[in-house]
Amino acid sequence: MNFESSPIHRELADSTRRLAAIREQTPPKPGRTRIISVSNQKGGVGKTTSTVNLAAALAVKGMKVLVIDLDPQGNASTALGVAHHEGIPGIYEVLTEGKPMAEVVQKSTEDDKITVVPATIDLAGAEIEIVTSIEQLQWHALLKNALHTYLASIQGNVDYVLIDCPPSLGLLTVNAFVAATEVLLPIQCEYYALEGLSQLLRNIERIQASLNPELVLSTILLTMYDSRTKLASQVVADVREHFPAQTLDAIIPRNVRVSEAPSFGRTVITHEPSSPGSIAYLEAAIEIANKGAQHGR
Ligand SMILES: Nc1ncnc2c1ncn2[C@@H]1O[C@H](COP(=O)(O)OP(=O)(O)OP(=O)(O)O)[C@@H](O)[C@H]1O
Ligand SMILES: [Mg+2]
Repeated sequence: MNFESSPIHRELADSTRRLAAIREQTPPKPGRTRIISVSNQKGGVGKTTSTVNLAAALAVKGMKVLVIDLDPQGNASTALGVAHHEGIPGIYEVLTEGKPMAEVVQKSTEDDKITVVPATIDLAGAEIEIVTSIEQLQWHALLKNALHTYLASIQGNVDYVLIDCPPSLGLLTVNAFVAATEVLLPIQCEYYALEGLSQLLRNIERIQASLNPELVLSTILLTMYDSRTKLASQVVADVREHFPAQTLDAIIPRNVRVSEAPSFGRTVITHEPSSPGSIAYLEAAIEIANKGAQHGR
């Protein structure tokens, strides 16, 4: 077999072609700030990984991005190189003490077009604190009000707000659904992928009906795809059949560069720009921007 026809050569040629296509694209900026909640009550499906890598990919394409870390684990803060140890003010102080978001945002080391509202472990106690403080009748709108005040103070000078949700449908996620105009649902290409999905969709409908009529499930992103398994392609086919309009063409492959990037305090976009994971997240970001423009978002 000569090199030209080897799988490695084909893969390289494919990456080079896709990177060139990415470089050529200038996706449009949204007309107004898009506020996207990255949610799935299932744990470990790629919510945080998708939030930080899409943020970095959008920034590469010239977008200003605010990432709100709404998970007490603080993984998005870590991946974006932002301090979030105890004592650092973050989303906890915003939600429980009414601290202005402007006072807690930090610049990401990843890209100066990315700012982050960090989460510390304090956030783990926030849900109970909020529901037990009786004067907090507007508990579901705490994030929305804080975010709108912040966006007004910076004259809306942010193109995308990405909210990294915890793996539950509790008070924090409800706050994200009320603050957002869109939901981005990452689905892991594995056996139980669709389990619990109808529950999530029902909850989104409930929020639409009562608290936030603007909310739409705009985007589904397939993650951790392993091309060697038949199961993964079956999941892709199932999701596309049920959600043809929402599912992005871009699929995120399972890729070790993606999982190791956070240990360098980085996203895969800067850690290994030409890796399959980085390329796929860049393609997904461009698609999100282009589809948004088509739908007037
Ligand atoms: N494309 C990928 N390739 C390889 N590993 C991945 C990929 N995407 C995510 N992972 C790994 O899978 C694990 C779960 O991902 P991640 O933390 O993004 O999920 P999550 O939905 O945010 O989890 P949680 O529900 O705990 O918040 C992490 O260890 C991450 O590094
Ligand atoms: Mg997470």
